[in-house]
Amino acid sequence: MKSLVLLIVVAFAVGASAQCLCNTMKWATCDGTPCQCYLKVASDGLGIPLNCSTLVPKCFLMKAEMYRAKTGQSTRSSGKPTEHAFVDNDGIYDPDCEANGRFKAKQCNNTNECWCVNSAGVRRTDKGDKDSIKCDELVETIWVRLQLKHKPTTSAVDPAALKKAIGDAIHDRYFVDGKFVNNTQYDPDARLIMVDVVKPKADRTTDLSRAAYYMEKDVKILPLFTGEKKFLPTVGSQTLDFEDIVVYYVDEKPPTFTMKRLTGGLIAVIVVVILAVAAGLLVLFFARRRDRARYEKTQPREMDEMQ
Ligand SMILES: *[C@@H]1O[C@H](CO)[C@@H](O)[C@H](O)[C@H]1NC(C)=O
Ligand SMILES: *[C@@H]1O[C@H](CO)[C@@H](O)[C@H](O)[C@H]1NC(C)=O
Repeated sequence: MKSLVLLIVVAFAVGASAQCLCNTMKWATCDGTPCQCYLKVASDGLGIPLNCSTLVPKCFLMKAEMYRAKTGQSTRSSGKPTEHAFVDNDGIYDPDCEANGRFKAKQCNNTNECWCVNSAGVRRTDKGDKDSIKCDELVETIWVRLQLKHKPTTSAVDPAALKKAIGDAIHDRYFVDGKFVNNTQYDPDARLIMVDVVKPKADRTTDLSRAAYYMEKDVKILPLFTGEKKFLPTVGSQTLDFEDIVVYYVDEKPPTFTMKRLTGGLIAVIVVVILAVAAGLLVLFFARRRDRARYEKTQPREMDEMQ
Protein backbone atom coordinates (compact mmCIF):
# COMPACT_ATOMS: atom_id res chain seq x y z
CA MET A 1 0.00 0.00 0.00
CA LYS A 2 2.73 2.37 1.05
CA SER A 3 4.72 1.65 -2.09
CA LEU A 4 1.64 2.15 -4.24
CA VAL A 5 1.12 5.62 -2.76
CA LEU A 6 4.79 6.35 -3.29
CA LEU A 7 4.51 5.17 -6.87
CA ILE A 8 1.53 7.42 -7.48
CA VAL A 9 3.30 10.37 -5.90
CA VAL A 10 6.42 9.74 -7.98
CA ALA A 11 4.37 9.28 -11.16
CA PHE A 12 2.54 12.51 -10.40
CA ALA A 13 5.78 14.38 -9.77
CA VAL A 14 7.32 13.08 -13.00
CA GLY A 15 4.16 13.95 -14.87
CA ALA A 16 4.10 17.44 -13.41
CA SER A 17 7.75 18.14 -14.17
CA ALA A 18 7.35 16.81 -17.70
CA GLN A 19 4.59 19.39 -18.14
CA CYS A 20 6.87 22.24 -17.18
CA LEU A 21 8.46 22.87 -20.55
CA CYS A 22 8.55 25.80 -22.93
CA ASN A 23 7.09 24.63 -26.23
CA THR A 24 8.20 27.68 -28.13
CA MET A 25 11.80 27.85 -26.87
CA LYS A 26 14.10 24.87 -26.55
CA TRP A 27 16.81 26.77 -24.65
CA ALA A 28 14.46 27.91 -21.88
CA THR A 29 14.83 26.67 -18.33
CA CYS A 30 11.55 26.03 -16.57
CA ASP A 31 10.63 25.40 -12.98
CA GLY A 32 7.96 25.76 -10.32
CA THR A 33 4.20 25.53 -9.97
CA PRO A 34 2.80 27.23 -11.87
CA CYS A 35 5.47 26.51 -14.42
CA GLN A 36 7.62 29.54 -15.22
CA CYS A 37 10.24 29.53 -17.95
CA TYR A 38 13.25 31.79 -18.41
CA LEU A 39 15.64 32.53 -21.24
CA LYS A 40 19.20 33.18 -20.15
CA VAL A 41 20.84 36.18 -21.87
CA ALA A 42 23.48 37.08 -19.28
CA SER A 43 25.65 35.26 -16.76
CA ASP A 44 23.79 36.70 -13.78
CA GLY A 45 20.18 36.07 -12.88
CA LEU A 46 17.62 33.55 -14.05
CA GLY A 47 17.07 35.26 -17.38
CA ILE A 48 14.09 36.82 -19.08
CA PRO A 49 10.71 35.39 -18.01
CA LEU A 50 8.93 33.93 -21.02
CA ASN A 51 5.34 33.48 -22.13
CA CYS A 52 5.55 30.08 -23.79
CA SER A 53 2.02 30.28 -25.20
CA THR A 54 3.45 32.45 -27.92
CA LEU A 55 6.68 32.95 -29.86
CA VAL A 56 9.56 34.56 -28.00
CA PRO A 57 10.31 38.13 -29.20
CA LYS A 58 13.13 38.21 -31.73
CA CYS A 59 15.06 40.77 -29.68
CA PHE A 60 15.25 38.34 -26.74
CA LEU A 61 16.19 35.49 -29.07
CA MET A 62 19.06 37.47 -30.55
CA LYS A 63 20.31 38.35 -27.07
CA ALA A 64 20.17 34.69 -26.10
CA GLU A 65 22.03 33.66 -29.24
CA MET A 66 24.78 36.22 -28.60
CA TYR A 67 25.07 35.04 -25.00
CA ARG A 68 25.21 31.38 -26.02
CA ALA A 69 27.82 32.07 -28.69
CA LYS A 70 29.91 34.02 -26.18
CA THR A 71 29.74 31.27 -23.57
CA GLY A 72 30.53 28.54 -26.09
CA GLN A 73 27.08 26.98 -25.98
CA SER A 74 25.64 25.72 -29.18
CA THR A 75 23.07 27.84 -30.92
CA ARG A 76 22.02 24.91 -33.05
CA SER A 77 22.15 22.04 -30.52
CA SER A 78 23.03 19.41 -33.11
CA GLY A 79 24.58 19.19 -36.54
CA LYS A 80 23.63 20.46 -39.93
CA PRO A 81 20.11 19.33 -40.81
CA THR A 82 20.81 19.40 -44.56
CA GLU A 83 23.84 19.94 -46.74
CA HIS A 84 22.37 23.29 -47.74
CA ALA A 85 22.16 24.58 -44.20
CA PHE A 86 24.41 27.43 -43.25
CA VAL A 87 24.79 29.69 -40.26
CA ASP A 88 23.34 33.17 -40.58
CA ASN A 89 25.52 34.85 -37.97
CA ASP A 90 26.22 37.72 -40.33
CA GLY A 91 23.13 39.66 -39.39
CA ILE A 92 23.29 39.06 -35.68
CA TYR A 93 24.22 41.58 -33.01
CA ASP A 94 23.63 41.98 -29.31
CA PRO A 95 20.44 44.07 -29.33
CA ASP A 96 18.98 46.43 -26.74
CA CYS A 97 15.44 45.30 -25.97
CA GLU A 98 12.49 46.96 -24.26
CA ALA A 99 11.02 45.09 -21.29
CA ASN A 100 8.26 43.76 -23.56
CA GLY A 101 10.73 42.37 -26.06
CA ARG A 102 10.51 45.06 -28.69
CA PHE A 103 13.73 46.35 -30.18
CA LYS A 104 14.97 49.75 -29.11
CA ALA A 105 15.00 51.96 -32.22
CA LYS A 106 18.72 52.64 -31.86
CA GLN A 107 21.16 49.75 -31.75
CA CYS A 108 24.91 49.85 -31.15
CA ASN A 109 26.01 46.22 -30.58
CA ASN A 110 27.98 47.40 -27.53
CA THR A 111 30.16 49.68 -29.66
CA ASN A 112 30.27 53.38 -30.48
CA GLU A 113 28.87 52.75 -33.92
CA CYS A 114 25.09 52.81 -34.00
CA TRP A 115 22.20 52.54 -36.43
CA CYS A 116 18.39 52.57 -36.46
CA VAL A 117 16.34 49.41 -36.83
CA ASN A 118 12.77 48.53 -37.71
CA SER A 119 10.48 46.47 -35.50
CA ALA A 120 12.17 43.35 -36.89
CA GLY A 121 15.53 44.59 -35.60
CA VAL A 122 16.86 44.99 -39.13
CA ARG A 123 19.03 48.00 -39.88
CA ARG A 124 17.22 50.67 -41.91
CA THR A 125 19.73 53.54 -41.79
CA ASP A 126 23.43 53.90 -42.38
CA LYS A 127 25.72 53.33 -39.43
CA GLY A 128 27.12 56.32 -37.63
CA ASP A 129 28.69 57.70 -34.51
CA LYS A 130 26.88 56.97 -31.25
CA ASP A 131 26.16 60.66 -30.61
CA SER A 132 25.21 61.70 -34.12
CA ILE A 133 22.72 58.91 -34.87
CA LYS A 134 19.16 59.79 -33.89
CA CYS A 135 16.30 57.29 -34.08
CA ASP A 136 13.06 59.02 -33.21
CA GLU A 137 10.80 55.98 -33.34
CA LEU A 138 10.77 52.27 -33.97
CA VAL A 139 9.38 51.96 -37.51
CA GLU A 140 6.97 49.08 -37.87
CA THR A 141 7.55 46.24 -40.32
CA ILE A 142 4.12 45.61 -41.80
CA TRP A 143 4.95 43.17 -44.54
CA VAL A 144 7.40 40.30 -44.87
CA ARG A 145 8.00 38.48 -48.11
CA LEU A 146 9.19 34.95 -47.56
CA GLN A 147 10.92 33.36 -50.49
CA LEU A 148 10.97 29.65 -49.74
CA LYS A 149 12.73 26.97 -51.73
CA HIS A 150 11.40 23.47 -51.26
CA LYS A 151 13.14 20.16 -51.80
CA PRO A 152 12.17 18.06 -54.82
CA THR A 153 8.80 16.40 -54.44
CA THR A 154 7.50 13.13 -55.85
CA SER A 155 4.52 14.77 -57.53
CA ALA A 156 3.62 18.28 -58.62
CA VAL A 157 2.66 20.91 -56.05
CA ASP A 158 -0.81 22.31 -56.55
CA PRO A 159 -0.42 26.10 -56.73
CA ALA A 160 -4.15 26.60 -56.13
CA ALA A 161 -3.89 24.94 -52.73
CA LEU A 162 -0.80 26.90 -51.73
CA LYS A 163 -2.27 30.05 -50.23
CA LYS A 164 -4.58 28.30 -47.82
CA ALA A 165 -2.04 25.62 -46.92
CA ILE A 166 0.66 28.17 -46.12
CA GLY A 167 -1.86 30.35 -44.25
CA ASP A 168 -2.89 27.39 -42.10
CA ALA A 169 0.70 26.35 -41.45
CA ILE A 170 1.71 29.87 -40.48
CA HIS A 171 -1.24 30.13 -38.13
CA ASP A 172 -0.68 26.78 -36.43
CA ARG A 173 3.05 27.07 -36.03
CA TYR A 174 3.79 30.79 -35.73
CA PHE A 175 0.47 32.10 -34.35
CA VAL A 176 0.03 34.62 -37.16
CA ASP A 177 -3.46 35.03 -38.56
CA GLY A 178 -3.64 33.00 -41.78
CA LYS A 179 -5.61 35.72 -43.53
CA PHE A 180 -2.51 37.94 -43.49
CA VAL A 181 -1.07 35.63 -46.15
CA ASN A 182 -2.42 37.74 -48.96
CA ASN A 183 -0.41 36.49 -51.89
CA THR A 184 1.49 33.36 -52.87
CA GLN A 185 3.30 32.64 -56.10
CA TYR A 186 4.88 29.43 -57.24
CA ASP A 187 7.69 28.72 -59.64
CA PRO A 188 7.83 24.92 -60.06
CA ASP A 189 11.11 24.90 -61.99
CA ALA A 190 12.99 26.86 -59.36
CA ARG A 191 10.96 25.16 -56.59
CA LEU A 192 10.33 28.63 -55.19
CA ILE A 193 7.30 29.66 -53.22
CA MET A 194 6.86 33.34 -52.58
CA VAL A 195 4.64 34.23 -49.66
CA ASP A 196 3.56 37.75 -48.77
CA VAL A 197 2.47 38.18 -45.18
CA VAL A 198 0.92 41.62 -44.79
CA LYS A 199 -0.74 42.93 -41.67
CA PRO A 200 -3.11 45.89 -41.44
CA LYS A 201 -1.25 49.16 -40.91
CA ALA A 202 -2.87 49.86 -37.57
CA ASP A 203 -2.11 46.37 -36.19
CA ARG A 204 0.42 46.67 -33.40
CA THR A 205 -0.23 43.25 -31.82
CA THR A 206 0.93 40.96 -34.61
CA ASP A 207 4.71 40.75 -34.65
CA LEU A 208 5.75 39.54 -38.09
CA SER A 209 9.42 39.54 -37.12
CA ARG A 210 9.01 36.67 -34.66
CA ALA A 211 7.27 34.48 -37.21
CA ALA A 212 9.91 35.26 -39.85
CA TYR A 213 12.76 34.59 -37.43
CA TYR A 214 11.36 31.29 -36.22
CA MET A 215 10.81 30.34 -39.84
CA GLU A 216 14.38 31.24 -40.81
CA LYS A 217 15.67 29.00 -38.05
CA ASP A 218 13.23 26.24 -39.05
CA VAL A 219 14.48 26.25 -42.61
CA LYS A 220 18.16 27.14 -42.32
CA ILE A 221 19.37 25.70 -39.04
CA LEU A 222 17.11 23.89 -36.59
CA PRO A 223 13.71 24.69 -35.11
CA LEU A 224 13.72 26.82 -31.96
CA PHE A 225 10.74 24.86 -30.69
CA THR A 226 11.22 22.30 -27.95
CA GLY A 227 11.54 18.89 -29.61
CA GLU A 228 12.77 20.56 -32.80
CA LYS A 229 9.77 19.28 -34.73
CA LYS A 230 10.28 20.21 -38.37
CA PHE A 231 8.22 22.70 -40.36
CA LEU A 232 6.52 20.47 -42.95
CA PRO A 233 3.38 22.11 -44.30
CA THR A 234 1.02 19.99 -46.36
CA VAL A 235 -0.17 21.33 -49.70
CA GLY A 236 -2.90 19.12 -51.10
CA SER A 237 -1.45 15.63 -50.79
CA GLN A 238 2.13 16.87 -50.81
CA THR A 239 4.28 17.51 -47.76
CA LEU A 240 6.82 20.25 -48.36
CA ASP A 241 10.28 20.26 -46.85
CA PHE A 242 12.19 23.51 -47.31
CA GLU A 243 15.89 23.97 -47.93
CA ASP A 244 16.29 27.73 -48.17
CA ILE A 245 14.58 30.97 -47.23
CA VAL A 246 15.14 34.64 -47.94
CA VAL A 247 13.18 37.18 -45.94
CA TYR A 248 12.44 40.64 -47.31
CA TYR A 249 11.15 43.29 -44.94
CA VAL A 250 8.76 46.07 -45.88
CA ASP A 251 8.43 48.94 -43.43
CA GLU A 252 5.75 51.52 -42.94
CA LYS A 253 8.27 54.24 -43.84
CA PRO A 254 11.07 54.19 -46.40
CA PRO A 255 14.52 53.20 -45.16
CA THR A 256 17.19 55.86 -45.33
CA PHE A 257 20.37 53.96 -46.04
CA THR A 258 22.37 54.06 -49.22
CA MET A 259 21.56 50.96 -51.23
CA LYS A 260 25.23 50.16 -51.92
CA ARG A 261 25.92 49.24 -48.33
CA LEU A 262 23.03 46.85 -48.33
CA THR A 263 24.46 44.24 -50.65
CA GLY A 264 27.27 43.19 -48.34
CA GLY A 265 25.44 40.72 -46.11
CA LEU A 266 25.14 36.99 -46.42
CA ILE A 267 21.37 37.21 -46.28
CA ALA A 268 19.76 39.63 -48.62
CA VAL A 269 17.84 41.82 -46.27
CA ILE A 270 16.13 44.42 -48.33
CA VAL A 271 13.79 46.95 -46.94
CA VAL A 272 11.35 48.15 -49.56
CA VAL A 273 8.50 50.51 -49.13
CA ILE A 274 5.04 50.68 -50.58
CA LEU A 275 5.38 54.38 -51.23
CA ALA A 276 8.46 53.75 -53.32
CA VAL A 277 6.59 51.19 -55.38
CA ALA A 278 3.78 53.63 -56.00
CA ALA A 279 6.25 56.34 -57.00
CA GLY A 280 8.01 53.84 -59.26
CA LEU A 281 4.80 52.95 -61.01
CA LEU A 282 4.03 56.61 -61.60
CA VAL A 283 7.47 57.20 -63.06
CA LEU A 284 7.03 54.16 -65.30
CA PHE A 285 3.64 55.38 -66.42
CA PHE A 286 4.91 58.81 -67.40
CA ALA A 287 8.04 57.42 -69.01
CA ARG A 288 5.92 55.11 -71.14
CA ARG A 289 3.60 57.89 -72.13
CA ARG A 290 6.54 60.04 -73.09
CA ASP A 291 8.13 57.19 -75.07
CA ARG A 292 4.91 56.53 -76.88
CA ALA A 293 4.55 60.21 -77.76
CA ARG A 294 8.12 60.27 -79.04
CA TYR A 295 7.62 57.05 -80.97
CA GLU A 296 4.57 58.40 -82.69
CA LYS A 297 6.41 61.56 -83.60
CA THR A 298 9.51 59.87 -84.98
CA GLN A 299 7.83 57.05 -86.80
CA PRO A 300 6.89 58.90 -90.02
CA ARG A 301 10.45 60.14 -90.46
CA GLU A 302 11.83 56.64 -90.03
CA MET A 303 9.41 55.39 -92.61
CA ASP A 304 10.63 58.05 -95.00
CA GLU A 305 14.22 57.02 -94.44
CA MET A 306 13.40 53.41 -95.10
CA GLN A 307 11.92 54.28 -98.46
C1 LIG B 1 0.76 34.84 -23.19
O1 LIG B 1 0.46 34.95 -24.59
C2 LIG B 1 -0.88 34.63 -24.91
C3 LIG B 1 -1.00 34.59 -26.41
O2 LIG B 1 -0.59 35.80 -27.00
C4 LIG B 1 -1.80 35.64 -24.23
O3 LIG B 1 -3.14 35.34 -24.53
C5 LIG B 1 -1.59 35.59 -22.72
O4 LIG B 1 -2.34 36.60 -22.10
C6 LIG B 1 -0.12 35.79 -22.39
N1 LIG B 1 0.09 35.56 -20.96
C7 LIG B 1 0.75 36.41 -20.19
C8 LIG B 1 0.90 36.00 -18.77
O5 LIG B 1 1.17 37.47 -20.60
C1 LIG C 1 28.24 42.67 -33.13
O1 LIG C 1 29.39 42.37 -32.37
C2 LIG C 1 29.85 41.05 -32.46
C3 LIG C 1 31.05 40.89 -31.57
O2 LIG C 1 30.79 41.39 -30.31
C4 LIG C 1 30.22 40.73 -33.90
O3 LIG C 1 30.60 39.38 -34.00
C5 LIG C 1 29.04 40.99 -34.79
O4 LIG C 1 29.38 40.79 -36.14
C6 LIG C 1 28.51 42.40 -34.60
N1 LIG C 1 27.32 42.57 -35.42
C7 LIG C 1 27.06 43.68 -36.13
C8 LIG C 1 25.82 43.65 -36.94
O5 LIG C 1 27.76 44.65 -36.09
